[in-house]
Amino acid sequence: MSCIRFLTKHSPSSSFSSSILRHIRFMSNVPENTVYSGPTPQIANQRTTLMQLRQKHRNSKPITMVTAYDYPSAVHLDMAGIDICLVGDSASMVVHGHDTTLPITVDEMLVHCRAVARDAKNPMLVGDLPFGSYESSSDQAVDTAVRILKEGGMDAIKLEGGSPSRIVAAKAIVEAGIAVMGHVGLTPQAISVLGGFRPQGRNILSAVKVVETALALQEAGCFSVVLECVPAPVAAAATAALQIPTIGIGAGPFCSGQVLVYHDLLGMLQHPHHAKVTPKFCKQYARVGDIINKALLEYKEDVTNGSFPDAHHSPYKISEADAEGFSNELQKLGFDKAASAASEAVQRLNATK
Ligand code: KIV
Repeated sequence: MSCIRFLTKHSPSSSFSSSILRHIRFMSNVPENTVYSGPTPQIANQRTTLMQLRQKHRNSKPITMVTAYDYPSAVHLDMAGIDICLVGDSASMVVHGHDTTLPITVDEMLVHCRAVARDAKNPMLVGDLPFGSYESSSDQAVDTAVRILKEGGMDAIKLEGGSPSRIVAAKAIVEAGIAVMGHVGLTPQAISVLGGFRPQGRNILSAVKVVETALALQEAGCFSVVLECVPAPVAAAATAALQIPTIGIGAGPFCSGQVLVYHDLLGMLQHPHHAKVTPKFCKQYARVGDIINKALLEYKEDVTNGSFPDAHHSPYKISEADAEGFSNELQKLGFDKAASAASEAVQRLNATK
């Protein structure tokens, strides 16, 4: 009997698709009542496409982009309907606790990319090429970009800067069939030459360079360019000069879209050390760090005073009869202390019901 006929035969009352989903679980090696829910059935990929981004841009609809580095942040972006999810090398700072983005490696980035790709179904996924993984040659840049897509499950890559060799690398990556997002203005991987996290485009020469570099990246085939920490008029000029969308961060309101770092946007890092490095341009939409801190203190208090876990949070039951039988069995085996512990546990849990 074919699998499909088997499925329909055994699910006469429900719709064909829901019966398939039910029977996929039936046929899988994952039992229904597991502690965690297990793998979900694969649903067709509905990720934002380049065409959809172009359409938004053409219709002057702002593009939304947020960073994510792991499964929970990716799921939150997905649920919020964010257009682009950037697995940024800012992970180096906000996840790994480094002072700069320089230390993060390709292998570390790939772990973040895979976690994000695992369940972010809707946003376009862009993975950053980390410092040291694409500067030596176009071949090196293409090889790293391929890994980010192939091993990381990303849809596109982002690279920083617009030096002539970087433009050649961007072109080579596009020619290899990989969509590239550029990044100009403050490019944090270049703090060594920029002299720190400094805004760019604040004098005529530097402002013109921002626009020219963005144009060169467009010419190389980039589908979009991030403008970081440049004055709003400079970002407005770049946005007007380009045919591809600009995504601003600390670049004012005149870009085609905006990006913020997940932890900054959510006010995640309320520890004094991190709070003081939250960028000036970032609007905090929440103070999640305060909530996390309060929850951890409450948890610590509950465990310390024995109020967690109570009967409600001890869900795996044994009947009173079996508990008694178990206790008797333990006694027979000579485990008197264990036997009374089991009996006492039943009484104490009953008392907290
Ligand atoms: O790594 C990152 O998060 C970024 C954004 C700031 C654009 O590059």
